[in-house]
Amino acid sequence: MKSETKEIYKNYLNLINEGLEKSINIEYPEKIYEAMRYSLLLGGKRLRPVMALETAKMLGGNSEEVLPSALAIEMLHCQSLIHDDLPCMDNDDFRRGKPSNHKAFGEATAVLAGDAFLSYAPKFIIDKTPASVSKEAVLKVLREFFIAAGTDGIISGQIVDLDSEHKKIDEKTLNFLYEYKTAKLFKLAVRTGGIIAGADSEKLEALTKYAEYFGHAFQVYDDILDEISTFEEIGKTPKKDANVEKSNYVSLFGIDRAKQRLTSLVNSACDILKSNNLKSSLFEELARDLTERIN
Ligand code: IPE
Ligand code: IPE
Ligand code: MG
Ligand code: MG
Ligand code: MG
Repeated sequence: MKSETKEIYKNYLNLINEGLEKSINIEYPEKIYEAMRYSLLLGGKRLRPVMALETAKMLGGNSEEVLPSALAIEMLHCQSLIHDDLPCMDNDDFRRGKPSNHKAFGEATAVLAGDAFLSYAPKFIIDKTPASVSKEAVLKVLREFFIAAGTDGIISGQIVDLDSEHKKIDEKTLNFLYEYKTAKLFKLAVRTGGIIAGADSEKLEALTKYAEYFGHAFQVYDDILDEISTFEEIGKTPKKDANVEKSNYVSLFGIDRAKQRLTSLVNSACDILKSNNLKSSLFEELARDLTERIN
């Protein structure tokens, strides 16, 4: 990433991390709030809230209006990770280099911390979005949030992901699970920024398409990293997917074809930006970075 773009990213990160730090207070019953804060503040790239904020900026919107929703999207992402790591799901003991939530707090608390985010986050959008944002826009954002969080999003992706262990699935099923477990959250991010900044339907569709390509690329990239990286590099257990015979692009088609697929998805994402005159060096470089880091 160019130093100028890195600076833009860093500024967003500061804004997001400051906002997340203040987003949950510890009160009685402390345990649930501590468990939520533990995973939310553990670090992470904050890609989804960054994308929500960058979308708004690209369209001339203002970041204060988008920030509460951007933070709520990170909470939803955090929920998906806490539950994804549970013994009954991917059974991962580490996340972001630290013990995963159930390792730190026990399984029951981890289930509840994930559940808690699913209502805490949309309530946060309602309570914290500035009054300058129309109620209609807030409702639209909430609808997008529920699409990404539920059976129209992560839930369906995760169930197909888990059902696809130890078996060969076709490419259509693989694309379904990438779309639902991963891309939908990126779509939520750009659509949220777009809705609050007042994007027209053409721009919103173009941004959604970018997020779709980016989301698929991001999951192929994550699957490649799982295969080739060390614990220090990814902060989670490497070779986890191969060990449980997870169906992903690498296990089904091999690492070379996975890299080709990644390159093609990244090119498609960047083409969407260009052909729709969506000017964001950050969006372009976030996509390009995915291929650069694995080649
Ligand atoms: C991990 O997402 C889950 C996937 C969709 C592969 P990230 O790689 O964005 O996780 P953090 O937030 O940076 O830890
Ligand atoms: C990511 O799938 C999708 C969600 C967490 C919803 P993974 O299971 O590949 O994510 P990591 O590798 O554990 O971060
Ligand atoms: Mg998983
Ligand atoms: Mg996992
Ligand atoms: Mg993974």
